[in-house]
Amino acid sequence: MINKLEKLIIATGNKGKFEELKAMLSGANKNFADEIIFAPEFAKQINIVEDGSSYEENAEIKARAWAEVSGLPCLADDSGLEVEALNNAPGIYSARIVDGDDNARNLWLLDKLKNFKDKSSRRARFAASLVLIFNNNKIIANGICEGYIAEKISGSNGFGYDPLFIPKGFDVTFADLSSEIKNKISHRALAVKNLLKNFKN
Ligand code: IMP
Repeated sequence: MINKLEKLIIATGNKGKFEELKAMLSGANKNFADEIIFAPEFAKQINIVEDGSSYEENAEIKARAWAEVSGLPCLADDSGLEVEALNNAPGIYSARIVDGDDNARNLWLLDKLKNFKDKSSRRARFAASLVLIFNNNKIIANGICEGYIAEKISGSNGFGYDPLFIPKGFDVTFADLSSEIKNKISHRALAVKNLLKNFKN
């Protein structure tokens, strides 16, 4: 079991991810870290080539890169959306499957699924891997959230594919849900829960 950390860098340039991870880690009953830092506020964004072949490998690349620059414990998330009808694409390429912004990627996904009409043919899941690097230790934690892809964009909370993803058991998208609810049921929430199992109360 690990004692709480003093400072922790969240190794991401994605503010949406940072806010979610910070809320989950700060809201946890466990005393995880005294100070949680957004990587670009610690140092100028560093150049990282995410050339791993899995979420886990990419998360480790990011966590190690920031740990080297900062000398501090670093936590990275690599995550993605897997759409069954697209052979689990975009997967590890979720952030860069098409040029442009989140909206461009959502429009790309709607177009790809235009001939898939019923709910079961639009099944998808979000997957997240967290890697924490500290004092030459590595902890890996994973989480998955099942659901399906909506037929139109809806909602303004969250980031990425949230306006298109309807989690199992709900009939609205992640972007329609409050952050409190998303942060209880999401792939990232489950990965954080698994990560925290390694820490003392
Ligand atoms: P990366 O892990 O930074 O390479 O990018 C993950 C990408 O997957 C994000 O940029 C989003 O497009 C997508 N993604 C991951 N988690 C979520 C989420 O919770 N909501 C919406 N999109 C997500």
